[in-house]
Amino acid sequence: MFNAPQKRILMCPPEFFGVAYVINPWMEGHFARTDAENALRQWTQLKETIGRHALVSLLPAHEGLPDLVFTANAGLVKGRKVLLSRFRSPERRDEEKVDREWFEKNGFQIIDPPSGAFFEGAGDALYDQARDLYWVGHGFRSDRDFAPLLQALLVTRAVELTLVDPRFYHLDTCLCPLPDGFVMYFPGAFDAPSRETIEKLVPEHLRIEVDERDAVKFCCNAVSLHSLVIMNDASDALQGRLRQANLTPVLTPLSEFLKAGGAAKCL
Ligand code: ARG
Repeated sequence: MFNAPQKRILMCPPEFFGVAYVINPWMEGHFARTDAENALRQWTQLKETIGRHALVSLLPAHEGLPDLVFTANAGLVKGRKVLLSRFRSPERRDEEKVDREWFEKNGFQIIDPPSGAFFEGAGDALYDQARDLYWVGHGFRSDRDFAPLLQALLVTRAVELTLVDPRFYHLDTCLCPLPDGFVMYFPGAFDAPSRETIEKLVPEHLRIEVDERDAVKFCCNAVSLHSLVIMNDASDALQGRLRQANLTPVLTPLSEFLKAGGAAKCL
């Protein structure tokens, strides 16, 4: 574990975080209801947890961009290249310029999504190291058929999955590739053909299916670092299942961010 190359993870402080509009079901009823102090405490704890095992880079916060904290949506990074996001909701579009500037300043080669195409970055495209492929979600945010586009632009293999439950609107809210070929996911978030695709590519003993109670705690929105699975919360049963897979669940509460529909991986 200690010889593994250092991963670099981008985070953005929650200085201007809040629920200022409603673009997913979690934000309903939470309009202007986040606690800034608690958000900063939770975010800092996540950053320190990640920082013990990876290098954390910071994207400066911007007034008026409350969802910029969710850096998973800035783009999809592969080596020194980044495919930038184009947000479906107008409310998040001003983030694109800020993300672009950060990647330019930090020496990344920028790739733009084709004109008119929507793509929400690493929120909808997850690398599965064991299979050397990207799981790509669509149905709510990124375009249908984005997987072939992604394959043409950046990656070698992209497998398309269709999301059907509006609570799990980004792929990273309901699926998490883990070390050694394990995949943790909430089957209810996918249509039947997508569930079949997962079952075809991931043999049963490597599937960690979570139930709805764990799914709504955003357990799949986890940061997988070495053998750690850093997440908001998980039942004892799910934690036990992860341990059986030689993984270590690390719980770090992120309730303030759940109000905006995001947790560890999004951040
Ligand atoms: N409020 C944000 C949105 O609806 C949350 C984004 C969560 N990010 C993620 N990668 N799932 O766009």
